[in-house]
Amino acid sequence: MTPTDDQLLERAAAVAERAYAPYSVYLVGAAVLARDGRVFEGVNVENAVYPLGVCAEKTAIAKAVSEGCRPGDLEAIAITASPCGGCRQWLHEFRLDRVVFPNTRGERVSYAPAELLPETWELPQP
Ligand code: THU
Repeated sequence: MTPTDDQLLERAAAVAERAYAPYSVYLVGAAVLARDGRVFEGVNVENAVYPLGVCAEKTAIAKAVSEGCRPGDLEAIAITASPCGGCRQWLHEFRLDRVVFPNTRGERVSYAPAELLPETWELPQP
């Protein structure tokens, strides 16, 4: 059965326990729902060279892509944290309908990628 946004956020929270974040000790989980019903989970993976770490959203999207998904194939993503600026560009690229996360007051919020990154840069088409 297709998960609700609440269920997707529960999956993100559960997978966050598997994050590899020994430096920040800030565990993030993400769960992506593909339009065909598949769910891909991801966590942040840090590195001793700090800038080389990857965010949970990027891990989840990269997993979806490696299983055959392309921009337009992903319906929603739930994240245990507000997505960082770089991840917002990834969310825009993959044209998700909804980005769901808890805001600073702990309320579940849902935005379209364009709301998270208005007037988004696009690679000019030749
Ligand atoms: N982090 C994410 O995984 N996603 C975000 O959108 C916010 C930040 C991670 C990156 C790093 O491992 C840790 O949170 C602290 O910055």
